Amino acid sequence: MDKVIVEKVSKIYSVGKVKVEALKNVSFEIDKNEFISLVGPSGSGKSTLIYLIGALDKPSTGRINVFGVDISSLKNSQATKWRRKNVGIIFQFFHLIPTLTAIENVVLSAELAGISKRERVKRARELLEFVGLGDKMDRFPSELSGGEQQRVAIARALAGDPQLILADEPTANLDYPNKIRIVELLNRAKELGKTVIFATHDIELAKYSDRIISIRDGKIVEG
Ligand SMILES: Nc1ncnc2c1ncn2[C@@H]1O[C@H](COP(=O)(O)OP(=O)(O)O)[C@@H](O)[C@H]1O
Ligand SMILES: [Mg+2]
Repeated sequence: MDKVIVEKVSKIYSVGKVKVEALKNVSFEIDKNEFISLVGPSGSGKSTLIYLIGALDKPSTGRINVFGVDISSLKNSQATKWRRKNVGIIFQFFHLIPTLTAIENVVLSAELAGISKRERVKRARELLEFVGLGDKMDRFPSELSGGEQQRVAIARALAGDPQLILADEPTANLDYPNKIRIVELLNRAKELGKTVIFATHDIELAKYSDRIISIRDGKIVEG
């Protein structure tokens, strides 16, 4: 099955005695190699959905199947293994390892995904060139601009050659030219054959994708 299938998914967080229903019976499908924008205002449930599709957390009810794997039934250790091989995740605040250079960050991710020792460095170089950082591979994150750090994060997300790229507000902290650059790179990841889910509150940026899925107050809204 070459789809991401989200079926009747709800997610309830418990905060003390209070229950927050972050996702309410959400269902949709995404085809392999689609570039989807998941659009909604702050608090609408975008990050929750990204975490569930990336198997970083589990739904309270419902199922999620990613390219034939029922990830909602994976145990934690299996989920980690599955994620490292199959998913690349990009966050708003880059989350690069500050003590590693750009290329070391990408190599580490390739290693975790099980890429052979011989291949890792070659792959990391190619990916950093792909994101336009061929001349800055040996810099530490603190020596790079926000836009450049996010491009390293994209190279890192691609390091294990995952099928699925999840980007959670990757442009939120960047200026306009860098926002566009990041969305263009997500589009190029699609051209490499990846399935891309781009969570954003910015409808203008969402227009660069193939299709928009709108979410509001934990529910998918049509149109
Ligand atoms: N770990 C958590 N514990 C309790 N409530 C949470 C947690 N994470 C998110 N929420 C709540 O769930 C809702 C959806 O949040 P989130 O998925 O982060 O939305 P978005 O990414 O669209 O801003 C919000 O009401 C938020 O406060
Ligand atoms: Mg969020």
